[in-house]
Amino acid sequence: MGGIIELKDVTKIYSTKDTPEIIALNKANLTVEEGEFLSVCGVSGSGKSTLLHLIGCLDKPTEGTVSVKGSVTTQMNEKELARMRNGTVSIVLQDFGLIPSRTVYDNLVVPFYFSSNRKGMNDKIKSALEFTGIADLNQRPVIKLSGGQKQRVAIARAIVNDNPILLADEPTGQLDTQTKKQIMELFHKLNEKGKTIIMVTHDIDMAKETSRIVKIADGSIMES
Ligand SMILES: Nc1ncnc2c1ncn2[C@@H]1O[C@H](COP(=O)(O)OP(=O)(O)O)[C@@H](O)[C@H]1O
Ligand SMILES: [Mg+2]
Repeated sequence: MGGIIELKDVTKIYSTKDTPEIIALNKANLTVEEGEFLSVCGVSGSGKSTLLHLIGCLDKPTEGTVSVKGSVTTQMNEKELARMRNGTVSIVLQDFGLIPSRTVYDNLVVPFYFSSNRKGMNDKIKSALEFTGIADLNQRPVIKLSGGQKQRVAIARAIVNDNPILLADEPTGQLDTQTKKQIMELFHKLNEKGKTIIMVTHDIDMAKETSRIVKIADGSIMES
């Protein structure tokens, strides 16, 4: 039996016309079992975000295979990748990827635009906002929120569809100690509810709270 996430010899090369090729991932291998809370640690530029984008079905590898809940992403078209993001894997992006001028509520509606199933949308939004502790910020424009509040909105948006896999890119990177703790508590609760979580971080103290740590350096993954 394979894991819920399987990477086999995954290479990702970024190439643009005027710059040399960048090998962001170099034959990376990783298996994540269902229900794990895994952290991926590495310095800036080691390939952490690239790794999450591939697992999060935002991008595809140059070589090798990424399999998410039994589906290999390599042959998928945009529509199929979008379906994965809708029903299987969610990502909390490093820069949040929120629409700053719109309200918290509007930002949580976004995942439903791409979904055929809008049943219970408002209830789902309400419970995601309650879970992340920002129900009172429902009608507040994102631009007026603090960093910690934005992080919560990004998490709320990632869990509103109740996808079984949650990815988080340096979710505690910009936060004070107290807020870090609160955000980690949210992830622990989600993991207890059965979600498989991968958190990317360069904060070893945060990583130590998770059930397994892997290290990434120069695009290669090492178990530790
Ligand atoms: N879209 C892109 N185009 C070109 N190079 C990129 C792109 N995204 C990332 N890179 C490069 O790939 C390498 C890995 O980046 P990244 O995955 O963002 O690392 P990390 O998240 O660990 O800081 C870096 O050298 C970075 O500059
Ligand atoms: Mg990054």
